[in-house]
Amino acid sequence: MHFFTKKLTPSIPKTLTMKELAIFASGSGTNAENIIKYFNSSNEINIALVLTNNPTAGIIDKCKELGVKCRIFSKTEFRESDDIYNVLIDAKIDYIILAGFLWFVPQSITNRWAGHIINIHPALLPKYGGKGMHGMNVHRAIVEAGESETGITIHHVDDVYDNGGIIFQTKVDIEPNDTPDIVAAKVQALEQAHFPKVIEKLCKKN
Ligand code: GAR
Repeated sequence: MHFFTKKLTPSIPKTLTMKELAIFASGSGTNAENIIKYFNSSNEINIALVLTNNPTAGIIDKCKELGVKCRIFSKTEFRESDDIYNVLIDAKIDYIILAGFLWFVPQSITNRWAGHIINIHPALLPKYGGKGMHGMNVHRAIVEAGESETGITIHHVDDVYDNGGIIFQTKVDIEPNDTPDIVAAKVQALEQAHFPKVIEKLCKKN
């Protein structure tokens, strides 16, 4: 079990209505970093915690820089114990954000945070979803299939992979010569522009 935190920015006074968010991230963490920065001076939404299964994830150092608590966990801890569930309860988490998190989330967590756990997917679900469809795999499949458009989907998380109700989608055109890397960059731009705003809207609604 590892916890890192180093507060560099002055802490924002919490209000009674402050929503506490946890972000799960396995990859390079560009979404997690963008979300943390977006809410950095918010007095309504606090990024209480980042959780990652990847001990070399770039987001770990980013969390140290940005003063956000970061927890690294193993598959056994996630799947076969209540450790992570309890960490979320102890931090009084209102919303869970999956930002490039690739493991299936245990039912105890999806049930407890039903309607309050969301994921971002780098395609227009229900197309190009399901097991194995993540990151560059999605962009390669889309280019191979000769699609003329792609986009992002932000959706609720339930017990079935990439299945929960869709909250938000937006599209971008694919040009005939676009490579998977170009498509990835276009999708990443959509993620950076929209994900924090969708989270903000959702938190303000409930
Ligand atoms: C993002 O593109 C996200 O949509 C995708 O992983 C990437 C993570 O990037 N998620 C999935 O594919 C989920 N099936 P990041 O680590 O730089 O935020």
